[in-house]
Amino acid sequence: MTRIVVLISGGGSNLQALLDACADGRIAGEIVLVLSNRADAFGLARAKRAGIEAICLQRSDQPLRQDYDIALTERVAEAKPDLVVLAGWMHILSPAFLDRCSAKVINLHPALPGMFPGARAIERAMAAFQRGEIAETGVMVHEVIADVDAGPVISIQTVSIEPTDDLALLSARIHAAEHRLLVDVVAALAAREGRRLG
Ligand code: GRF
Repeated sequence: MTRIVVLISGGGSNLQALLDACADGRIAGEIVLVLSNRADAFGLARAKRAGIEAICLQRSDQPLRQDYDIALTERVAEAKPDLVVLAGWMHILSPAFLDRCSAKVINLHPALPGMFPGARAIERAMAAFQRGEIAETGVMVHEVIADVDAGPVISIQTVSIEPTDDLALLSARIHAAEHRLLVDVVAALAAREGRRLG
């Protein structure tokens, strides 16, 4: 079984999609730790409800970003993951984390490669559509590098934007696409890991 650590900062609907897919066997993996950088992230409750270790490491506890990233690496390493999934994780990982983490680290971004890196990507896609700059948007999963929402792309899914959409409608369509894409990618990586181990 692929050992998966999920890093979150918020509601954790993508975490829930992973929890469900691990529970029903679509992913041949086990979520061994959920870690949030925010104490009020609802995803922590989702993890605990599923019987999974869930902890918070607050950025404000460490004056220096490098120290925070090292503390994070150490805590993640204790869980011995094969795969680290950033699912709504709102902290930019520096080389202090990435160079020390031996597991594959992947990120979910609610836009297509190169589009709207950083926060409020869906809102910015909606505004770009309204200005006639884009005809559609999408979601992607990519390997994590030190740049924000960049790194080798693993998989994408385009998502339509309808002229009648408001932000809530578009967000719902994007989140549904994210849940499917993330589960598909993690399932494929876990299957590959299984073959490698087997
Ligand atoms: C997702 O849209 C993710 O791509 C973005 O933040 C959102 C997190 O949603 N970076 P959730 O916490 O998984 O519900």
